[in-house]
Amino acid sequence: ESTLGAAAAQSGRYFGVAIAANRLSDSTYASIAGREFNSVTAENEMKIDATEPNRGQFNFTNADRVYNWAVQNGKEVRGHTLAWHSQQPGWMQNLSGSSLRQAMIDHINGVMSHYKGKIAQWDVVNEAFADGSSGARRDSNLQRTGNDWIEVAFRTARAADPSAKLCYNDYNVENWTWAKTQAMYNMVKDFKSRGVPIDCVGFQSHFNSGSPYNSNFRTTLQQFAALGVDVAITELDIQGASPTTYAAVVNDCLAVSRCLGVTVWGVRDMDSWRSGDTPLLFNNDGSKKQAYTAVLNALNGG
Ligand code: G3I
Repeated sequence: ESTLGAAAAQSGRYFGVAIAANRLSDSTYASIAGREFNSVTAENEMKIDATEPNRGQFNFTNADRVYNWAVQNGKEVRGHTLAWHSQQPGWMQNLSGSSLRQAMIDHINGVMSHYKGKIAQWDVVNEAFADGSSGARRDSNLQRTGNDWIEVAFRTARAADPSAKLCYNDYNVENWTWAKTQAMYNMVKDFKSRGVPIDCVGFQSHFNSGSPYNSNFRTTLQQFAALGVDVAITELDIQGASPTTYAAVVNDCLAVSRCLGVTVWGVRDMDSWRSGDTPLLFNNDGSKKQAYTAVLNALNGG
């Protein structure tokens, strides 16, 4: 196959991209995105500050621009993200305790009902674990509402849209030996044993010199899959875009039957949140980088 999406579909997977609504009017951007990918994540437009700028007043203008473009171009949509310590609107940053807990529940219900039946996977909770060696939860206003905030988010999400796969999503959880990975593993294991509804784990996979790709990523994916959840690579970008590393990540997903697919976090280097790292698959002029060819070859079976 000659595009990333079609090549991934040969094994029942998708190859997705993060889309920014305000770039869809760039014809180079839109034509690459339309041609190459068969799954879309809104880079910012479905986040809490974008969708509920005032408490109880939902705004899906930009979220729907991304959603409608994706559907009109035949792509499935990953929802990102419903409960997160970051990109909260000011009113939510100022809440705590039971009123914040209720606001989280109301937010999940408001956004998921707007997209009911239309989203393949939702990142219900994003980035809830601390960096470093503690294995602890990240301190945040949501965490301070009680350790059960994550399972409440997942139970709320299941009731709001039973058709969506419900994911927990985080970064620096790709290396099996890291404390953060083990902490996330123990949470998922606990949720599965107690019947908390979780269907998938998203590995953001923002690789750089401080958090490099390690070949034990495949072990990580296998270990989580063995708990009875799907896994996905949700925000892939690699500092310097080594073709070898890109191919290795794709091959790790292909080696795990429960790996649903791979999403890269932007189209061209200039579209990246860390453009100085030139971490993506396309040059700024829209041409394909060596990493693109390495990924396409891997998806085509080597
Ligand atoms: O839209 C405003 C614009 O009006 C304003 O003039 C400008 C001034 O700063 O800011 C613009 O908003 C920025 C937004 O991106 C859109 O470009 C925000 O400041 C900026 O903080 C925001 O960054 C996003 C970041 O999440 C915020 O946490 C990145 O685009 C986005 O790629 C990044 O994505 C995250 C995932 O959601 C979660 N995992 C990590 C990943 C990378 O940080």
